[in-house]
Amino acid sequence: MAETHVQSVVLSGTKRNVGDDFGSDDFIMTKKSAALKMWNDDPVEALASARHEFGEHGGVNMSIEASATFTVMEPETMRRMFSGELGPDRDFFIYSRHFNPTVLNLSRQMAALEGTEAAYCTASGMSAISSVLMQLCSSGENVVASPCLYGGTHALLTHFLPRACNITTTFVDVRDLDKVKDAIVEGKTKVLYVEAMSNPTLTVANIPELSRIAHDKGVMLVVDNTFAPMVISPARLGADVVVHSISKYISGGADIIAGAICGPASLIKSMMDLHQGPLMILGPTMNAKVAFELSERIPHLGLRMKEHCHRALVYATRMKKLGLKVIYPGLEEHPQHTLLKSMANREYGFGGILCVDMETEERANRLMHHLQNYTEFGFMAVSLGYYETLMSCSGSSTSSEMNAEEKELAGISPGLVRMSIGYSGSLEQRWSQFEKALARIQDGKNCS
Ligand SMILES: Cc1ncc(COP(=O)(O)O)c(C=O)c1O
Repeated sequence: MAETHVQSVVLSGTKRNVGDDFGSDDFIMTKKSAALKMWNDDPVEALASARHEFGEHGGVNMSIEASATFTVMEPETMRRMFSGELGPDRDFFIYSRHFNPTVLNLSRQMAALEGTEAAYCTASGMSAISSVLMQLCSSGENVVASPCLYGGTHALLTHFLPRACNITTTFVDVRDLDKVKDAIVEGKTKVLYVEAMSNPTLTVANIPELSRIAHDKGVMLVVDNTFAPMVISPARLGADVVVHSISKYISGGADIIAGAICGPASLIKSMMDLHQGPLMILGPTMNAKVAFELSERIPHLGLRMKEHCHRALVYATRMKKLGLKVIYPGLEEHPQHTLLKSMANREYGFGGILCVDMETEERANRLMHHLQNYTEFGFMAVSLGYYETLMSCSGSSTSSEMNAEEKELAGISPGLVRMSIGYSGSLEQRWSQFEKALARIQDGKNCS
């Protein structure tokens, strides 16, 4: 019970010493020395410096706190917890829609990964995005956003937020920095929103310049880093908030839907406010068992990303040699290749997604059909970051929320095949499967 835990922080399974002097925000923050140091660090080093939670019985892994509710010894304690006087910083927990120790642990890992002061995890990437936008913007206020966004986010900004919250969005090509400056209305625009590497067009955002523009105008830069964890660290480059669909690379298993908001401790605390915070009021809560699963996968995210990125670069280079129209930020002719090189963390590469533009939906479908059903190169499925290669024709799937004009503006051709390159099997085995499928469609043969 909470009263006894206050004196027994070592027994509660953390490395923390009884005498350690932690500030009041420490419970949501990644280890302080690491937080200061990590700005120059590899994300893997920052993760290794974050606090390691041990299990209740000394297990190397933390115990799962599976309780929805937490008991107290004295009725007065309940009042003090609800007034905010006693909280997770002193090991007082109320209800798992609010703070849960296991979700908090994953959140500290996410903060370390992204180099932010704090983070909190949610039940999906969309709930992380919608909650943070609803926290940062009020009725009558505005978001300036790139038109090249995941279809769900585009629909949230285009339809849901104006209808339900009177929050409008001005879409602007964020590659044109002057247009971004002109689109921001000081006092009214609260958020500049981009994807670090856009879904599905793989446009890379100039985060240092966009953050400079945002900050000059008193606006927060929110970056979705779902496509490039480890590869890009948006907060290190000036972003205020980093959001994730953990469902993708961070999970890696295509078996969990989850999200995260990484940012300043003050933002995370306000979003967790017991009486008014959107994470408490809207309830996009992550389950503790899911949080435990995910915290076991984060330590090998770096290794997985290196292999995804290595194979994507090799395949993109070879596909180009075969005369295919490939979009991949690791290729020198990609318009933001030099920019990405200047922003990327060393040794992770240029991302694990590549696109092949087959020009028509019919040709795109034929390629995917042969790659899945004839040579078993990968699966026709949406999503990304899985150990198997996943392929989808974006215009008719994950970007189908957009109308034809919006797709054209975002640069999504009807024949664009997005491939999330997996690492199962050997690189050469998979490449021969790709070549065989391509030869088959070039011969005009159909799969029987
Ligand atoms: C870039 C990006 N952001 C956010 C999301 C939404 O995440 P989730 O499916 O976890 O809600 C997706 C999903 O495809 C995505 O690709």
